[in-house]
Amino acid sequence: MSKKTVLTGITTSGTPHIGNYLGAIKPAIEASEKPELDSYFFLADYHALIKCQDPERVAQSSREIAATWLALGLDTDKATFYRQSDIPEITELSWILTCMCSKGLMNRSHAYKASVDANQAAGKSELDDGITMGLFSYPILMAADILMFNADIVPVGKDQIQHIEMTRDIGGRFNSNYQKLFNMPDAQVDEETQLIPGLDGRKMSKSYDNTIPLFCSSDQLNKLIKQVDTDSKQPGEPKDPDSSTVFQLYNCFANEREAQQMREQYAAGIGWGDAKKELFEFLDAKLSAPRAEYNRLMNDLPFVESVLLKGAEKARAKSMPLLDEVRIAAGIRPLPFVPEQQAKKAKKEKSAEDIARAEQGRRRGILMQLKGALEAVANSDDPKAAAIALLEEKSAKLTTLKAKAKDKAENELLILTEELAQYNL
Ligand code: TRP
Repeated sequence: MSKKTVLTGITTSGTPHIGNYLGAIKPAIEASEKPELDSYFFLADYHALIKCQDPERVAQSSREIAATWLALGLDTDKATFYRQSDIPEITELSWILTCMCSKGLMNRSHAYKASVDANQAAGKSELDDGITMGLFSYPILMAADILMFNADIVPVGKDQIQHIEMTRDIGGRFNSNYQKLFNMPDAQVDEETQLIPGLDGRKMSKSYDNTIPLFCSSDQLNKLIKQVDTDSKQPGEPKDPDSSTVFQLYNCFANEREAQQMREQYAAGIGWGDAKKELFEFLDAKLSAPRAEYNRLMNDLPFVESVLLKGAEKARAKSMPLLDEVRIAAGIRPLPFVPEQQAKKAKKEKSAEDIARAEQGRRRGILMQLKGALEAVANSDDPKAAAIALLEEKSAKLTTLKAKAKDKAENELLILTEELAQYNL
């Protein structure tokens, strides 16, 4: 059975937080350990330019996200781990796909529509105000990311499902218009990991400003956990773990036994201060080893860079040959290039060798017919005179013949002249 390819990218516009870890990085690293999967994970740095025009932020986020994957134990011998901008084939493919994508499809993109709606709500007369072409055509770049490695499975958040559908749409159009080169990917949405709450109880997200950075210092982690929203129940009052953000964050990292023990403490009326202290100590213990590794890597960026460059080499071994096929399918070719189908047809149309072989056969046929006349010349008393006479006879006949027969006789005469040359005419 051939391996399935799993692929996902993280936009390098922020600091990795607990939601990124549990929702994307952890399940991805687990998938990369499975022998039946081929995994591709990348830093989507060109995607970052869509929403972040602060170069220092984009550069720093790339460092942080790369170091995070490695600190969490990604085995880059198993997975292909690279930076999008190191693979020029992706951006080239993006243009070819742009030409395969109807504008109407992009008009329906949630991200674009949300920006238009926001302009409308703000009473702006220009509904496209502040919207770049990057934002507008961002699903095409994402389609290029995915199609470039012919991914089967794309683990994403719910908000990205539409982009995977668009990828199928765009890739399908290429396949039917040119050549079937792209696989149709499926989105994989893990409902459970979508529910990681942030400090205010809403989904943890940079856009809500409610995140807990994965590798912040112990002190900062403690401070942030103290900010997590709770209800106003007093110590001693039983508490509902399932409606508690403090419990849910604990639960995300806990095994069943640990979760059950904490539930019992909630039922027994643990105070919020103590519950938060338990959460902090628990998380801090879980994160301290990878945090130390993260800090070590952030202090050895040349090493992290070298890992990414090695990953890019691995990725390009796949992307370069596929892009070559894509370009050729679309007609972007070296001038002498003949597509395989036409090359096959040309082969059928006989090579020079075939033609020479056919000519030889024809000559042998004519010689067979002339065999008697040639022998008569050879056996005559004066072969030279006999040869001249034979040629004169045949030449004289020529003038009486019609076009087709004349051609044949001319040919015959030519061969005869060659054969009789031995008599020094
Ligand atoms: N757009 C994705 C996000 O914001 C990141 C991303 C870019 C991605 N290219 C991708 C995810 C390809 C999966 C596959 O979350």
